[in-house]
Amino acid sequence: MTTRGENLSPLLLLLLGFALSVAATSAEKTYIVYLREQSGEKTAEEIEGSHHSYLSSVKESEEEARASLIYSYKHSINGFAASLTSLQAARLREAGEVVGVVESRPGKYSTQTTRSWEFAGLNEAAAYSVAQEEPNMLHRAGYGKSVIVGVLDSGVWPEAESFGEQGLGPIPRSWRGICQTGQAFNSSHCNKKIIGARYYVKGFEKYYGKLNETEDYRSPRDKDGHGTHTASTVAGRQVHNVSAFGGFAKGTASGGAPLARLAIYKVCWAIPKQEKAMGNTCFEEDMLAAMDQAIADGVHVISISIGTQTPVNHTDDALSIGALHAMKRNVVIVCAAGNSGPAPATLSNPPPWILTVGASSLDRAFHGPLVLGNGKTIKVGGQTVTPYSVLRALPLVYAADAVRAGVPKNETNQCLPNSLSTEKVKGKIVLCMRGAGLRVLKGLEVKRAGGAGFILGNGASNGNEVSVDAHVLPATAVVYKEALDIMGYISSTKNPTASIGEAKTVLGYKPAPFMAGFTSRGPNVIHPYVLKPDIAAPGLNILAAWSEASPPTKLSTDKRIVKYNIESGTSMACPHVAGLAALLRSLHPTWSSAAVRSAIITTAWMKNNMGEAIKDPSGETATPFQFGSGHFRPSKAEDPGLVYDASYKDYLLYLCSYGVKSADKDFHCPESPPPTYDLNYPSLSVAKLKGSITIKRTVTNVGGDGKAVYFFSAKPPLGISIKVRPSILFFTRIGQRKSFTLTIRARNNRTTTNNYFKHGYGFGWYTWRDNYHVVRSPIAVSLA
Ligand SMILES: *[C@@H]1O[C@H](CO)[C@@H](O)[C@H](O)[C@H]1NC(C)=O
Ligand SMILES: *[C@@H]1O[C@H](CO)[C@@H](O)[C@H](O)[C@H]1NC(C)=O
Ligand SMILES: *[C@@H]1O[C@H](CO)[C@@H](O)[C@H](O)[C@H]1NC(C)=O
Ligand SMILES: *[C@@H]1O[C@H](CO)[C@@H](O)[C@H](O)[C@H]1NC(C)=O
Ligand SMILES: *[C@@H]1O[C@H](CO)[C@@H](O)[C@H](O)[C@H]1NC(C)=O
Ligand SMILES: *[C@@H]1O[C@H](CO)[C@@H](O)[C@H](O)[C@H]1NC(C)=O
Repeated sequence: MTTRGENLSPLLLLLLGFALSVAATSAEKTYIVYLREQSGEKTAEEIEGSHHSYLSSVKESEEEARASLIYSYKHSINGFAASLTSLQAARLREAGEVVGVVESRPGKYSTQTTRSWEFAGLNEAAAYSVAQEEPNMLHRAGYGKSVIVGVLDSGVWPEAESFGEQGLGPIPRSWRGICQTGQAFNSSHCNKKIIGARYYVKGFEKYYGKLNETEDYRSPRDKDGHGTHTASTVAGRQVHNVSAFGGFAKGTASGGAPLARLAIYKVCWAIPKQEKAMGNTCFEEDMLAAMDQAIADGVHVISISIGTQTPVNHTDDALSIGALHAMKRNVVIVCAAGNSGPAPATLSNPPPWILTVGASSLDRAFHGPLVLGNGKTIKVGGQTVTPYSVLRALPLVYAADAVRAGVPKNETNQCLPNSLSTEKVKGKIVLCMRGAGLRVLKGLEVKRAGGAGFILGNGASNGNEVSVDAHVLPATAVVYKEALDIMGYISSTKNPTASIGEAKTVLGYKPAPFMAGFTSRGPNVIHPYVLKPDIAAPGLNILAAWSEASPPTKLSTDKRIVKYNIESGTSMACPHVAGLAALLRSLHPTWSSAAVRSAIITTAWMKNNMGEAIKDPSGETATPFQFGSGHFRPSKAEDPGLVYDASYKDYLLYLCSYGVKSADKDFHCPESPPPTYDLNYPSLSVAKLKGSITIKRTVTNVGGDGKAVYFFSAKPPLGISIKVRPSILFFTRIGQRKSFTLTIRARNNRTTTNNYFKHGYGFGWYTWRDNYHVVRSPIAVSLA
């Protein structure tokens, strides 16, 4: 038997190929066309008119040109999104005033929560907050009440107590945004806390067709929970005696800047159920429209817990283009580093004009004592936020001993759907391992098979990182070593048993913080001379407000409604730092966004609560490719002493070296732009060092009364030497700038230093210090 293709003549194949390529070039896709700034004052109609004429120049008719336009960006960004064939896009790329053309790719951006879908049902519900750590700083910052934070996400559940307006003063007069009406959302859902809300769905609909209004709200309202969670983490009110799930939880939930105002921009939407993918997706043309508007509306900080799976070149990254324009207006942009760890070179949001945040753990654990029949209690893990317990000892079984016939050997301990034998599981507690499949689905499978409870064991790759879940039956989670111990116990006795006690929140858990395994890692392959991520903040098992339209596990069979939920991801880390940025904006209204970023970076903390270096879940020492300069420290960021400042123009000069055209009408790249490593960044990354390199930096004095003397010190990577000139900096006034050079030299060749260099990089730091301040910059160097 032959397939049809084999009978086709070569000529026919050639013709077919021709037809296919014609089809490929005539298929329309969404492109973002990014234009040079308009000169002079133009009305919105005039700008849209100019966008229309670009389209007319490549389309067959006026009608077609009009129909192809999706967005006209005309506030702070000049450009448009339109349906184009690749040929039309190529023609526009050559047109005058066109700076760049980016093809929008579905699925490129998504919210950065790990697929854990956890829930809080616990005894103490205090979200991590700057408030708990720093009451005085918070007070001095007026709790951020004059600052407006824009959140690009899946919308908001406005009824959450975290968004109450009681006691808040009038809306800042600078605010120019609106409260957009839509499905289950109108102007009465905005208040003095949520001062604005809009939604952007055109790009999503161009690709998926009309939004199904039972799967998501066609409005700023959040059907998912993610947007509510991040918005309440950045600026949720302090809510005392938070109580979730039948009065289980008690404590205070609070955002980082509890009185800051929120402007909600919904850009992420539920992927239609009939698609194979699950969850949320965010289209770049929608995000760019939201950023263009947010800048014009007058936000001071934008928090974006959205990223890509793999690094995206900045010339092909609408989020990065939007962020550059925000930077021009001094808006601080804070983004998630992504959840693609622990593999190296996985960072999203890598440009130097963005503050990029990795995720670490809190010093909080949720212990539900797990007691085995031999009297042994599991201590390190044994963590759960599942609001059920099994206090009586019940028979215990390892999933691999309780599967149905025919389950592949490599999957017997995974508790994947329909893998367990009802007969062997009924009434028992089942030990399942992590590896494949969603954690909450494993619990669902044990329940389906009639199990009474469930223990989730970490695999070797998860180490000591326990993510807690609101499972649909009594359950707890254990670290890898404990899972092995439990397996040992099961095989050592004829009638193994276990009980799972009620969960209690334990504070002061050690060691903390450690870096989450999922947090994306450097090196920065897009900007090799910019060290990323910048900073780490809590992103593991974070409690915050939730959408009442979304069950805590997001499983359609789960009918629970909760006001608070626990989530993990760099999505949760990002708004912690955005909250701090809002407080700094309030404390230092004249600082540039680069200065705010610098203050957060140079004051970070590199040690855990046991006084040791911060580790990863396997117990290995973490590196700046996981945490940047370290764990954020609000109290120190308030008064950093010196900052590494940079202007919008500095970033344009930086981009010149990459041959990127600028959209700025008053800016032209010089003949020989400064080297990229001279961008005045508060950290240092040197890629492929050969011999030596001399790098220039400038610090601005922002500390005390202005009189200060700073001394240099450094801990260079092994095999690298650093020379500074000068090594003492004298300041006499606030705002004074001093420059210095660093000469980085390879003392050995790669062969001799190879053992030390992880992924080809060695790490260290340098500091400037006076009597009060330590201004620390992390260093990463790789050799040629
Ligand atoms: C807004 O919607 C609510 C119901 O959710 C309704 O009670 C209220 O009257 C509406 N307000 C306006 C101004 O339309
Ligand atoms: C909308 O979504 C619901 C729930 O997923 C589904 O039952 C319904 O068929 C969808 N409607 C359309 C028009 O696709
Ligand atoms: C929280 O609740 C407890 C009793 O359950 C009460 O004593 C306490 O005053 C409450 N705290 C606040 C801040 O409302
Ligand atoms: C088990 O092996 C099969 C066949 O090699 C593969 O398709 C499947 O993905 C594996 N399952 C897991 C959980 O790795
Ligand atoms: C990014 O794009 C530019 C221009 O197209 C190209 O020169 C550069 O090599 C790309 N960088 C990466 C890391 O792909
Ligand atoms: C690297 O250094 C070692 C020891 O100094 C030397 O023996 C070797 O020849 C060097 N290799 C290269 C490629 O320079």
